[in-house]
Amino acid sequence: MAIASTIRPCCSHLLLSQIIPKYPYHFSKSQKCPHRYEVVAQAASTAPAPHPTFDPVGAGSATPPHILLHGLKPLVFTPLLPFPEKTRNVDPVRHEPIPRTESVAEREAWKLLKQSVVNYCGKPVGTVAAADAGAFKGELLNYDQVFIRDFVPSALAFLLKGETEIVRNFLLHTLQLQSWEKTVDCYSPGQGLMPASFKVRAAPIDGNADAEEEVLDPDFGESAIGRVAPVDSGLWWIILLRAYGKITGDFSLLERVDVQTGIKLILNLCLSDGFDMFPTLLVTDGSCMIDRRMGIHGHPLEIQSLFYSALRCAKEMLTFNEGSANLIRAIKNRLSALSFHVREYYWVDLKKLNEIYRYKTEEYSQNATNKFNIYPEQIPAWLVDWIPDRGGYLIGNVQPAHMDFRFFSLGNLWAIVSSLTTPKQAEGILSLIEEKWDDLIGTMPLKISYPALESDEWRIITGSDPKNTPWSYHNGGSWPTLLWQFTLACIKMGRPDLAKRAISTAEKRLLDDNWPEYYDTPTGRFVGKQSRLYQTWTVAGFLTSKLLLEKPELASILTFEEDLELLEGCACRLSRNGRTRCSRQAARSQLLGNCA
Ligand code: GLC
Repeated sequence: MAIASTIRPCCSHLLLSQIIPKYPYHFSKSQKCPHRYEVVAQAASTAPAPHPTFDPVGAGSATPPHILLHGLKPLVFTPLLPFPEKTRNVDPVRHEPIPRTESVAEREAWKLLKQSVVNYCGKPVGTVAAADAGAFKGELLNYDQVFIRDFVPSALAFLLKGETEIVRNFLLHTLQLQSWEKTVDCYSPGQGLMPASFKVRAAPIDGNADAEEEVLDPDFGESAIGRVAPVDSGLWWIILLRAYGKITGDFSLLERVDVQTGIKLILNLCLSDGFDMFPTLLVTDGSCMIDRRMGIHGHPLEIQSLFYSALRCAKEMLTFNEGSANLIRAIKNRLSALSFHVREYYWVDLKKLNEIYRYKTEEYSQNATNKFNIYPEQIPAWLVDWIPDRGGYLIGNVQPAHMDFRFFSLGNLWAIVSSLTTPKQAEGILSLIEEKWDDLIGTMPLKISYPALESDEWRIITGSDPKNTPWSYHNGGSWPTLLWQFTLACIKMGRPDLAKRAISTAEKRLLDDNWPEYYDTPTGRFVGKQSRLYQTWTVAGFLTSKLLLEKPELASILTFEEDLELLEGCACRLSRNGRTRCSRQAARSQLLGNCA
């Protein structure tokens, strides 16, 4: 049985993990180079399928049994030609590719991205969060680590350029970290949890001070500021795995037993029963990109969009057999319920807002219109004038007697990308962004949230956080990394013009300002108060946006189209007339935007 060396001395009582074994594999202290992994015990028969011995490159392991994936189809992959031969257009007369001129900003960005690569045992495994050596008197905090969410745009830039090795290594190494025995003050979070970040560290070999080896040191939130849970890490991991599979056609990786187990563990954690009444995922504050207290506990949109996307990815990637049948069924049910819930209850436009404004409260019945008992007084003053005649958006959070009306960019954009919204809602979100360009894009794309919390709201909701002051950082700051998600959503909706406009706003400034992490002020005019420079996901987000615009057909490695079957699968639909069974007609009516 695996008894973790990470167990703290304070834990003198018997831990649950000592009674119910989690994994047969245990790494002493930190993950070491592959040849040093040891198996310390056999799995108990009740334990979940273990991660097989780690073998990142596949060498030496038996060929995995060929299993048919549930629905994943390879793309016909044409790697982008390496610069400078890369081409953009074809000469109409000579029918030859016109050599593409790389901008100064792009050249610089590629240089920085390559410099940010982290190697482990001689192989690239990720990119550091920021390479800003001069920052804040050398105080690196954890910006020298490889963050799972930060690596996604780096991975995409590499994938879109045809460099796949780093992504494969990252996927497999982080997968191995998932099986870590982790504790935060005597408590062990769920076993499918993926770390927020990891670091490659030199450690003495077996106590010998003269000899060192590299180890991977993950942080599951036990060192993170505020001890926040990285709920989004596992979701991003699944999303990246699908993108990797689609672009490379390397299905043998997806079929590996350890990879399949990894997907299942993440989903088991997300789909496990609790006290919750909603299909949305219940999380604590700061469990995603906004990793500090910002009043996004409960059912924040960002997590729901990533959750939906990860479920759709998993539905395609899970191998279908007796062992996975129940999970696949649970995924389908959750997808149906989740999309219905978000489309119906998170969506606001002028019409819906007016409905909320006229809500009756204290309705006790299954037929209630105001199901969450929202008091119309909650509608914030700013929104009354701000909501445009055309378009709308998904609000930040819905819970009993609570609607967080702030606009959160990532959740809205990813809802478009994953088809969590109806097509009409997706169009509506982009037209709202277009209409509110000065507020949401301003002089630097993109606002992470809008508007900022001020005065008492700031004091109460952020806990007087000096980093999240109004119009700074997570509290209404502008984050250039969000450009790639915006570009993706624009491409999906046939509006690349919007993305091009945003990129041209950002390009020169990012280069001149040395790629800051974020910008401050209502329109993003200042480099952020405590912003790092040379922030890798700023660099990578810019490159990924450029590459996606150049090869828009490759956006499909990340996007999903509407799936009518999922809508039809919804077990029950609560409507104004009470409960009605979800029917093909109901599903279609949502698809056609009657809910929007
Ligand atoms: C900040 C961001 C977080 C990011 C990390 C590393 O904490 O809020 O989303 O992952 O920096 O860049």
